[in-house]
Amino acid sequence: MKHTRRTLLQGAAALTAPSFAASAAAKRPAGAASDDEAYWRDIAKAYDVKKDVINLENGYWGVMARPVAERYLENVKRVNHDNSYFARRSWREEHSAVLAQLAAALGAEEEEIAITRGATEALKGLIAGYNKLEPGEAVMYADLDYPEMIAMMDWRAAKSECAVVKVAIPEPSTHDGLVAFYKKALEDNPSVKLLLLTHISNRTGLAIPVKEIVAMARGRGVDCIVDAAHSWGQMDFNADDIGADFVGYNLHKWIGAPIGAGMIYIRKGRLADISPDPGAPDYDQDSVAGRIHTGTVDFAAILTLPEALKFHLDVGPAAKAARFSYLRNLWVEPVRGLARVDALSPDDPRLHAGITSFRLAGKTTPEENAAIAKRLLDEFNIFTVHRVGVAAGSCVRVTPALYNTPEDSLALAKALKAVSG
Ligand SMILES: Cc1ncc(COP(=O)(O)O)c(C=O)c1O
Repeated sequence: MKHTRRTLLQGAAALTAPSFAASAAAKRPAGAASDDEAYWRDIAKAYDVKKDVINLENGYWGVMARPVAERYLENVKRVNHDNSYFARRSWREEHSAVLAQLAAALGAEEEEIAITRGATEALKGLIAGYNKLEPGEAVMYADLDYPEMIAMMDWRAAKSECAVVKVAIPEPSTHDGLVAFYKKALEDNPSVKLLLLTHISNRTGLAIPVKEIVAMARGRGVDCIVDAAHSWGQMDFNADDIGADFVGYNLHKWIGAPIGAGMIYIRKGRLADISPDPGAPDYDQDSVAGRIHTGTVDFAAILTLPEALKFHLDVGPAAKAARFSYLRNLWVEPVRGLARVDALSPDDPRLHAGITSFRLAGKTTPEENAAIAKRLLDEFNIFTVHRVGVAAGSCVRVTPALYNTPEDSLALAKALKAVSG
């Protein structure tokens, strides 16, 4: 990981008032260990969340920490008060300052990114705009990819008169096994020229070795579009660690920004391979922003991104990632000993973050898994969500957030012992 840009950003952030996370972090100058409960209790206090349920379903979006939520409300008031006088006079400059901070945090160039309303908008722009396919070629995606992106890949293939190759990611997987799996899939299907990769699967929590797969695919002349909706802020990496030329990110999941914020990334030199949005204005034709023309945006959400980034960086991307893994391991380790519970992300720390789904033996239908999630809620007060679409069967997803405690994970492990018995 390169930290130069991040350090610069932290330097800039230090000029503003210290945030909640910064003051908690100041007590632990070396960065918090994943089991430093005194520190994490302080961080958890920054989240005003429903406390009468154990919420282990934090994959939908990431709630804002209090300083971020407060700044957002201030920004809503400001935008509503100053209206177009703000938008027409200072928005441009303020937007570009936000872009600079995002680029710095990601280790990208400003001209390589644009802010979107979420990963969906970013990925739709990339898949719809990808213009290098020739009739008779093919696209590839896997069962663990996100349903709307799969639908977009089907659409892309049909438009370009290409075939679609669908693969099912082996369960369980290993780091080298995943690279070998994609290598063989591409060798077996030499007409594939575009590959969709999901960095962290929303269905099982599997984190694939994206950099290695992208490099292998590039060597075979295959472009990758990477769905990083769930990874930035949950794992610690920068743009080079992903290695892909085309990436869609979310900011309203693991960076903790207001809902309605994501990011599209197109590596310098590759812009021409993604056609502009047909509705993009002339002045955006030569920019990444022109690939996802959004129209009028939630100005307040975008103005709040520096506050969200500041909280994220003050806690520390590496400390966050380690804490998420720690909370995951606390329930996964005990259930590894249960014959009827299968935790679906591998224990190799490279292959998971905080999200991990489980499947009870023989329970593979959506209905059975919805019933298991309901039972966890009704009998154990634990909120999770069932997921479908995995080739090996449906499952129940568990996603801890920074406000969750080790007791939450242990309560789940205990509940799983009971429901699987
Ligand atoms: C893997 C993945 N890709 C894309 C998306 C879409 O993100 P959004 O709805 O925030 O645009 C999600 C949302 O959960 C996701 O999990």
